[in-house]
Amino acid sequence: MKVAVLGAAGGIGHALSLLLKTQLPAGSELSLYDVAPVVPGVAVDLSHIPTAVNVKGFGADDLAAALSGADIVIIPAGMPRKPGMDRADLFAVNAGIIKTLAEGIVANCPKALVGIITNPVNGTVPIVAEVFKKAGTYDKNRVFGVTTLDVIRSEAFIAELKGVDVNSVKVPVIGGHSGTTILPLLSQVEGVTFSEEEVAALTPRIQNAGTEVVNAKAGGGSATLSMGAAAARFCLSLVKGLQGEDVVDYAYVDVENGDAPYFAHPVRLGVNGIAEVLPYGELSAFEEKAKNDMLATLNADIQEGVDFING
Ligand SMILES: NC(=O)c1ccc[n+]([C@@H]2O[C@H](COP(=O)([O-])OP(=O)(O)OC[C@H]3O[C@@H](n4cnc5c(N)ncnc54)[C@H](O)[C@@H]3O)[C@@H](O)[C@H]2O)c1
Repeated sequence: MKVAVLGAAGGIGHALSLLLKTQLPAGSELSLYDVAPVVPGVAVDLSHIPTAVNVKGFGADDLAAALSGADIVIIPAGMPRKPGMDRADLFAVNAGIIKTLAEGIVANCPKALVGIITNPVNGTVPIVAEVFKKAGTYDKNRVFGVTTLDVIRSEAFIAELKGVDVNSVKVPVIGGHSGTTILPLLSQVEGVTFSEEEVAALTPRIQNAGTEVVNAKAGGGSATLSMGAAAARFCLSLVKGLQGEDVVDYAYVDVENGDAPYFAHPVRLGVNGIAEVLPYGELSAFEEKAKNDMLATLNADIQEGVDFING
């Protein structure tokens, strides 16, 4: 199994690469790429951890070698938010970075499963898809916006609020990955119930949890450690699927006849990426309204990504 991390020298890249070095199956290859000159050092540093995962670092001019033969590519490359910014403010900088990296994937590992972390995810996923479509390599079952951070935050907050074992909490989160487009389905969490007041308070807390971190870091960036943990968890789901295990996880994916062209759903993973996009089940009246209210924003975010390539 070869996993490439693009943007590996950043905050998320560091945390994610550490977790993959310690958690990928024995015999895997971990390929770290970044335009920052420190990236070979990150690889050397990680290589001193005694696990059977071989790490190599690749600098700015070595994208082809970093990607060649990759089974999975995870992308946290790009600028994070500072206080006062929303994720959409990042589009101008990150869209071009994502386009370049997607072109590298087309040229070097067109069959890889691609997990996109770079914000704004609502728009960067369509950019990658449009680059692949232009090149004739698009397979909607292989492109994922990583929304796992919304899921793990929901798990943590609910366990804290309800005083239950965090390992028993499972929370479906659908929609997109910014503000009101993030929709945790609290009505579907098994084993706990929420009052109307709790739903009205917890839903926006989950939606704005990223801003909680951005403000607490006071200009020092956005979530990196929790995002690294989330990305590692999602990457390991992709690995299990590729190894033939039956695994279901949540991601922002291309859906036919869905609520929007891209929407976070539960997906069954397999040897070719998405084996099946699963329905998200019944919504409460609160969730149905929140879903309908988010669609204009989500569709505009998606169109911005499509237009960046085709406009
Ligand atoms: N999906 C999510 O839930 C989620 C959560 C948190 C952050 N993010 C996003 O992840 C991205 C990275 O965040 P971070 O905190 O790690 O930022 P960071 O600034 O610490 O790291 C970004 C890295 O990307 C590298 N980079 C820039 N251009 C590149 C290119 N063309 N090729 C390869 N690498 C390149 C930089 O050199 C840097 O090392 C941001 O866009 C942030 O908004 C997403």
